[in-house]
Amino acid sequence: MLRTHTCGELRIDNVNQQVTLTGWVQRVRDKGSLLWVDLRDRYGITQLFLEEGKTAPELIKAARDCGREFVIKATGIVVERQSKNSKMNTGDIEIRVEHFEIINPSKTPPFTIEDETDGGDDLRMKYRYLDLRRNPVRESLQLRHKMGQQTRQYLDGQNFIEVETPVLIKSTPEGARDFVVPSRMNQGEFYALPQSPQTFKQLLMVSGFDRYYQIVKCFRDEDLRADRQPEFTQIDCEMAFVEQEDILNIFEGLIRHLFKQVKGIDIPEVPRMSYDHAMKYYGSDKPDMRFEMKFVELNDVAKGKGFGIFDDAELVVGICAKGCAGYTRKQVDELTDYVKRPQVGAKGMVYARYNEDGTFKSSVDKFYDQVALKAWADKMNAAPGDLMLLMSGEEEKTRKALSELRLHLGNQLGLRNKNTFAALWVLDFPLFEWDADTQRYHAKHHPFTSPKKEDIPLLDSDPGKVRANAYDLVINGTEIGGGSIRIHDRPTQQLMFKKLGFTDEEAKKQFGFLMDAFEFGAPPHGGIAFGFDRLCSIFGGVDSIRDFIAFPKNNAGRDVMIDSPSTISKEQLDELGIALKPSEK
Ligand code: AMO
Repeated sequence: MLRTHTCGELRIDNVNQQVTLTGWVQRVRDKGSLLWVDLRDRYGITQLFLEEGKTAPELIKAARDCGREFVIKATGIVVERQSKNSKMNTGDIEIRVEHFEIINPSKTPPFTIEDETDGGDDLRMKYRYLDLRRNPVRESLQLRHKMGQQTRQYLDGQNFIEVETPVLIKSTPEGARDFVVPSRMNQGEFYALPQSPQTFKQLLMVSGFDRYYQIVKCFRDEDLRADRQPEFTQIDCEMAFVEQEDILNIFEGLIRHLFKQVKGIDIPEVPRMSYDHAMKYYGSDKPDMRFEMKFVELNDVAKGKGFGIFDDAELVVGICAKGCAGYTRKQVDELTDYVKRPQVGAKGMVYARYNEDGTFKSSVDKFYDQVALKAWADKMNAAPGDLMLLMSGEEEKTRKALSELRLHLGNQLGLRNKNTFAALWVLDFPLFEWDADTQRYHAKHHPFTSPKKEDIPLLDSDPGKVRANAYDLVINGTEIGGGSIRIHDRPTQQLMFKKLGFTDEEAKKQFGFLMDAFEFGAPPHGGIAFGFDRLCSIFGGVDSIRDFIAFPKNNAGRDVMIDSPSTISKEQLDELGIALKPSEK
């Protein structure tokens, strides 16, 4: 090693030892006759000092020549500091330099390598290797490492075997677009990158592996958001001879283990909620349970009073913001503007203040007298001092919009603390989802998900009502994982494809291999996959998953550091048998 210690290691006990450190220059402070250099590596910062008259002049010159991020090697004696810095682990000591060497100079970095940097997103992405030197980003990756280690430890302890599945495969129907890779040896044909290892893990169950897991890259060509990347990582799991209850228990155990080992938190038993309940009371299949603010349906007390907007609405529904009756007109207007934003898409919002003196003041006083407003309050369990917020319109849209308002208020009222964790199982998802564009049903989870036995008769009569043996794990309003008990026999799988609008030929062409496998002794099985990046970001208390990925893509799906995607040479295209349209040449 070029060093004897790291920059985070030396303490008062090391005083008088001769040590050699290597690292990056965080900063140089030149006080004339005294010179300090803060030397940084992954482990911390150690202060070096040089003194005119005592340190060789050429060493002082070398130190003076150092700029930020120079790589240096310094040898010296550990001494106790005159003025100690209790904020630093190494703050009791400094190194009196005897030898100082610039290993490699650095250009001035394009942004400061500090916890709070002056670099914007784009710049930091372009120089990601420098951004990774910053503590918050490095700590995020260290957290990820720890989460991975603990995941493996837990699953290994539960007899799971990690098996790698291929990356060059064919389309898996997880609902996004595939990334495809042209085949040189089979011109005109393409591999698809896996959106998940779904079919392979099911085949492993047929093979008798019984308990499989893999921390695995998945690829989805979809619109990007803070919690979505085109390539992301799953903790992908599958088990044979299990029922839904077994899966929920084993993986609640994983989540509990991670919270305990990584954050030192004992989380309570994870509550369970049906999809229908979640939609009815929170307007979302991933409700944030850090706060209550449940929806209250108000059709019976809000309609029939001559207020046309409510009278014509399919649904009038509201939430009660505790203690917010004192909101100013401006604050209420801001909430109305919020729901009118195109992303939320509501036409408006009605409010009613329940004043401390027991009177009401609403935006629709023309139509609702005090008695009528008291009826709202009773339904909503509102108390004096509360603010009632109501929305109306077509049922599904209104619930969705109110859900956005609920989250917005939750933020405003400080109810969504990043260090509070509320996990939730959402169960009994619908099997199908109607797609208005294509005018057909799609699998809500994926086509390998089994319907609930008692709902099978509805497959023909009312497919939209069929519930699936499917479940999601939600933490703090983010979908962290999802899975299902699978179909494991050919006739049911075939029926499922038929219901999804596949012809027999199409189903056979795409998934014949799986249905064939089901005819060779497929055990009942089921599983789940967690979004590993999302799980890390929740643990790290950060909204974006980017910081938990060493080299992420930007929102346009580009890696601006290596400049990818990029064009390829004509030779490469020819070899692959791909001809570009004239406009693309
Ligand atoms: P699903 O599609 O629900 O299930 O994915 C599982 C979890 O992966 C995470 N996730 C993502 N994270 C980051 N960026 C993305 N683009 C992205 N897409 C999904 C989410 C999600 O809950 N094969 C099934 C699992 C199963 O049935 O066992 C599957 O992939 O946290």
